[in-house]
Amino acid sequence: MRTQVGIVGAGPAGLMLSHLLAARGIDSVIVEARSRAEIEETIRAGVLEQGTVDLLTDTDVGSRVLTEGAKHDGIELRFGGSGHRIDFARLAGRSVWLYPQHEVLKDLIAARVKAGADIRFEASDVELRDVTTDPVIAFTDADGTPIELRCDVIAGCDGSAGISKHTIPDGERTDYFKAYPFGWFGILVEAPPSAPELIYAHSERGFALISTRTPEVQRMYFQCDPEANADDWSDEEIWAELQARVAGDGFRLTEGRIFQRGVIPMRSYVCHPMRYGNLFLAGDAAHTVPPTGAKGLNLAIADVVVLARAFEDYYAKGSVERLEHYSATASRRVWRAQHFSWWMTSMLHTPPDGEPFDYHRQLGELDLVTSSTAAATQLAQAYTGWPLEY
Ligand code: FAD
Ligand code: DHB
Repeated sequence: MRTQVGIVGAGPAGLMLSHLLAARGIDSVIVEARSRAEIEETIRAGVLEQGTVDLLTDTDVGSRVLTEGAKHDGIELRFGGSGHRIDFARLAGRSVWLYPQHEVLKDLIAARVKAGADIRFEASDVELRDVTTDPVIAFTDADGTPIELRCDVIAGCDGSAGISKHTIPDGERTDYFKAYPFGWFGILVEAPPSAPELIYAHSERGFALISTRTPEVQRMYFQCDPEANADDWSDEEIWAELQARVAGDGFRLTEGRIFQRGVIPMRSYVCHPMRYGNLFLAGDAAHTVPPTGAKGLNLAIADVVVLARAFEDYYAKGSVERLEHYSATASRRVWRAQHFSWWMTSMLHTPPDGEPFDYHRQLGELDLVTSSTAAATQLAQAYTGWPLEY
């Protein structure tokens, strides 16, 4: 079996890459370990940058983002007992959209399947061979058939636990890694929204984030011990913790039935370089950000925009220049997003060994960010997404 671009992983990066390549007449096959149903049901990110939404609408994915998603023109930073709005529309001239990742994936899979794309769900024993010469993705198909997929190039879009980056020999790869001493306890709740926009709350008890999914379902998170077991918490304890972290000026969250819960780790990671021979890494396969800046999904999409453009030049003009520069071009945005995600995390979370100095320094920073137009603009531009460069 042969294709031009072999793609490992049907997450946002792999599916969007396959979609963008098809629009340029470039053939691809996606090899994915999970089932379609599992992919379409996994709850992950929720915030789409303006550029991600524009891409979904301009490239005819047929996405429901504009009809079922919600446009948000700002966020609230809550600290010292009151809320302070960051007005994205005024400061950055851009907005974000609340539209869950699994809905983006449903849209992309539907578009790819309708176009006749070859997606091998439930592949096992996936292995990359000869990536510096004539690359092969070897795997066992869902029906048990062993397959060797020969490709011109491989796009490793297999997320943070994937195999692609490990194909780069240790001596050729640098892993930049940082773990945070806290995690996020996330819940899905049957309730109406408590506020018109997302709330990022700083408090003496730690960080909390009040987000939304639909008018009937809300998403909330609070900083917790990274080793915490979500089932050890009663619903009453969860609500008491969330209410305490957003308290002040009479504000209260609207409570409801908690129907999903889990703890996610917080880490920063970058694999350098993002290319090795004919293997190109994109999305979480190459980098992870802590979720505070809502950048993970958007960064995955930004990578494949750069990569699709590079493959287009290669196939249409025989030019390898953009492919040669892929790692450097994509890394620039990656490190900006790393900085932004780390900065938001450090400004809003309570370190377990934090001293009163740290708490007051954070309040000083939050005061600056919500009262200086220059500082607020920097946050607004980063959160809504820098323009795509490629
Ligand atoms: P993924 O979405 O991880 O897709 C990779 C795909 O590759 C998966 O479908 C996987 O099954 C497949 N795969 C893995 N290994 C193999 C293999 N060996 N062979 C074949 N296929 C393979 N970001 C935010 O901004 N906000 C959030 O709230 C948030 N919450 C998150 C919660 C969780 C539990 C996780 C894991 C991530 C979260 N993220 C969040 C990050 C965001 O979801 C990711 O940045 C985004 O999914 C990256 O897309 P991707 O396509 O690069 O990787
Ligand atoms: C959501 C997740 C984030 O990481 C974030 O910064 C904002 C919203 C969410 O899941 O809704």
